[in-house]
Amino acid sequence: MAHVTASVYTSHIPAVGAAIDLGKTGEPYWQPVFKGYEFSKQWMKDKKPDAIFLVYNDHATAFSLDLIPTFAIGTAAEYQPADEGWGPRPVPKVIGHPRLAAHIAQSVIQDDFDLTIVNKMEVDHGLTVPLSLICGQPEAWPCPIIPFAVNVVQYPVPSGRRCYMLGKAIRKAIDTYEEPLNVQIWGTGGMSHQLQGPRAGLINREWDNAFLDQLINDPEELSKKPHIDYVREAGSEGIELVMWLIARGAMSDAKPTVKHRFYHVPASNTAVGHLILENN
Ligand code: DHB
Ligand code: FE
Repeated sequence: MAHVTASVYTSHIPAVGAAIDLGKTGEPYWQPVFKGYEFSKQWMKDKKPDAIFLVYNDHATAFSLDLIPTFAIGTAAEYQPADEGWGPRPVPKVIGHPRLAAHIAQSVIQDDFDLTIVNKMEVDHGLTVPLSLICGQPEAWPCPIIPFAVNVVQYPVPSGRRCYMLGKAIRKAIDTYEEPLNVQIWGTGGMSHQLQGPRAGLINREWDNAFLDQLINDPEELSKKPHIDYVREAGSEGIELVMWLIARGAMSDAKPTVKHRFYHVPASNTAVGHLILENN
């Protein structure tokens, strides 16, 4: 049977992708950011998964305001990086896992979570920047990836509780897939940031670190946190963090091992947070 072996959490700042693509990772501003991912790149090589279930948000790239799925699962064979205004990022195309994705869709929808099935879409920085941070600049991404897009852009967005319960349903789906695959689940976006309005540039280190603590130690309690707390304390785009609860919900109920934890400010307008948890 397939099994979730680990979860990875990381911010997805587009300027980080640009720094990688333009060869600026060694510059004094960026160097401390990328240092926080050195462990992760080696870990990824050592633990190479058979598939990654990658939870991210689309930023009105594949889905405009014409059509806003709350949860969308990618069932396609491949996905091209999107042009977000500066041309597509020079990164490999994403190879999907249609069989596993279809199995997860079947199981999770039968478990009462309404998913939108996506057979064709392009993927934006929400998905490609985490891959670049953890996998570097390979010719091809190390394994098939199932993109799972969550609406955190246009209200109403799903609650932390619903995300956490969805993670549990995803775990059950993966556990019942007949091939013995080592599957990682990634939760991306966050941490504190606000990109517009009078509070643009808001960062809340204390809140972010308390979030990381609670994500590790008491996700059940964390899942009860209302939206208004995220927005008030972590900024309007801090709401991206509810996606981390999907990945956390997919971990087994036993306490995970913290393999790596990293936090850094500044990086563009966002606090960089990163965590790797392994199932025991
Ligand atoms: C930034 C962060 C984001 O999450 C995003 O989607 C766009 C920009 C930023 O910090 O610049
Ligand atoms: Fe974002």
